[in-house]
Amino acid sequence: MRKLCLGVLGSGKGSNFRAIHEAIRNGRIDARVAIVCSDVPEAGILQLARDAGIPRYSITETLFKTRLSKEREEELVKQLQGAGVELVVLAGYMRMLKSPMLNAFPRRIINIHPSLLPKFPGLMAWRQALESGERVSGCTVHFVDEGMDSGEVIAQAEVPILPGDTRESLHARIQEAEHLLYPEVIGRFVRGELP
Ligand code: GRF
Repeated sequence: MRKLCLGVLGSGKGSNFRAIHEAIRNGRIDARVAIVCSDVPEAGILQLARDAGIPRYSITETLFKTRLSKEREEELVKQLQGAGVELVVLAGYMRMLKSPMLNAFPRRIINIHPSLLPKFPGLMAWRQALESGERVSGCTVHFVDEGMDSGEVIAQAEVPILPGDTRESLHARIQEAEHLLYPEVIGRFVRGELP
């Protein structure tokens, strides 16, 4: 049977993409990654995709830093649709999505964020949690809407904040939780278990 096609977007090192790819390889997700897209040409995620033999697409945006221009975003939609993508997975993608993407993939774009949303949206959420004296943080998988980390929450995993934690140690612990939660949620989506 034809497998559901994922399109993964990332701007960074790609550890979540690696966890998803691993989960596909060992049968925990019955899907395939049809394309990996990045707005950062030297991003680790593109290197990982290359090593895995997965088609890649580099987005070139020079006008804006926090989003794509309408034309660039329309190009991205074309690339994803051309690859047959049915679920868009944001894995460390650092730009906001606008109407071309949101209209092309309604309720079919998900993101992982390193906090227990709605607490600490935005950048370096682990640092925000640490500095506000929280005892618990974690990660959230949510549908993407036009806001910043504001879409409907699908699943969360808690992570303790321990005495002596640094930004780095907390971020690393949250990422371990992400690498379990994201593949699990994608597996549920593929099996039709999400609303
Ligand atoms: C993750 O911490 C994720 O929560 C955030 O960006 C980071 C991406 O890390 N949205 P990686 O590139 O998957 O290692």
